[in-house]
Amino acid sequence: RDMTEQTPVTTATAKAVPTLPDAQTVTSVQHYTDKLFSFRVSRPASLRFRSGEFVMIGLMGDPDPKTGKQKPLLRAYSIASPSWDEELEFYSIKVQDGPLTSKLQHIQPGDQIILRPKPVGTLVHDALLPGKRLYFFATGTGFAPFASLLREPETYENYDEVIITHTCRDVAELTYGHNLIEDLKQDEIMEEVFGEGFAKKIRYYPTTTREESPKMGRITTLIENGELFTDLGIPPLDPATDRAMVCGSLAFNLDIKALLEKAGLREGANSEPGEFVIEKAFVG
Ligand code: A2P
Repeated sequence: RDMTEQTPVTTATAKAVPTLPDAQTVTSVQHYTDKLFSFRVSRPASLRFRSGEFVMIGLMGDPDPKTGKQKPLLRAYSIASPSWDEELEFYSIKVQDGPLTSKLQHIQPGDQIILRPKPVGTLVHDALLPGKRLYFFATGTGFAPFASLLREPETYENYDEVIITHTCRDVAELTYGHNLIEDLKQDEIMEEVFGEGFAKKIRYYPTTTREESPKMGRITTLIENGELFTDLGIPPLDPATDRAMVCGSLAFNLDIKALLEKAGLREGANSEPGEFVIEKAFVG
C-alpha cells in the first residue's frame, strides 16, 4: 500500500460537527401570521407514536452567565403529522418574549432542534369507546393534534362523520387548518388510504371571535344555542353515538368539558376509554 491510497481516507474524515442531544434536522418552515408558524423535521428512525400524541421539543438555551453551561429549553408540542409520515410536523405560536418560541420562530431548513423521542398523550383513538360521530374541538394552536388525527386512517375507519371545529380570534389564524383540510379532501392518494368518499365524512366548522367571517362566535356559545347542530344538520350531542376530543386553552377545555358532561358524555383515558378526551394546547 502506498501513501497515495491512504491519503484520501484521512482527508475525507469529516470533522465531527457538534450536534445537540436528540438532534433532528428542520426540513421546512411555513409562517402564517406574525403569531403562527409550522415546521417539519426529520423523524428519528426508532420513533413510534400514536396520532394525537405529543413530544418534548426545543433548542439549547442561552449559556448560564456564571458557568457558561447551556441547558436544553424544552416544551410539549403535539405532533401535527400522522403516525405514518416519514417526517414530523409541528404547529406553533410565536411569543416575542417567550423563552423558546422567540428563538424557535427563526429556525430555517437545515437547522437542528432537540426532540425527545418519548411520545405521550390522551388524544388517541385508544382512549375513546366506539361511536358513530367524532368531534374535534380546537381553539388556536389546539388544532395541532387534530392535524395529525385528520390524516390518520383509523379516524375514518372508526367513524361515519368527523366534525372539526376550530375557533380563532382572526381569519388568518384559521389558515393552517383550512389549507390542511382542503388539501386533504382533494388528495386522490388519500382516497386510496382512507377509503372512497372519506372526504365527505369531514365536516369543517371554523369560527372567529374578533374578526368578521362567515361564522362568528365561540364554539361553546354555538353549542349552547344549538347553532352548531342546526348549521350542520345533525342532532345535539348524544353519548350513545358521539365522541369528542378537545384541545385548546385551559379555560376553553374546562368550558367544553362542562358542556360535554351536561350532554351525558364521560371523560376517558388510555387506561379507561370513555366518550371524550381532553388535552391542553401547549404554549411555548
Ligand atoms: P375570544 O376572542 O372570545 O376570547 P386565545 O387566543 O385567547 O387562546 O383564544 C383563541 C380562541 O378561543 C379565541 O377565538 C377565543 O375567543 C376562544 N376562546 C378562548 N377562551 C375560550 C373559552 N373559555 N371558551 C370558548 N372559546 C374560548
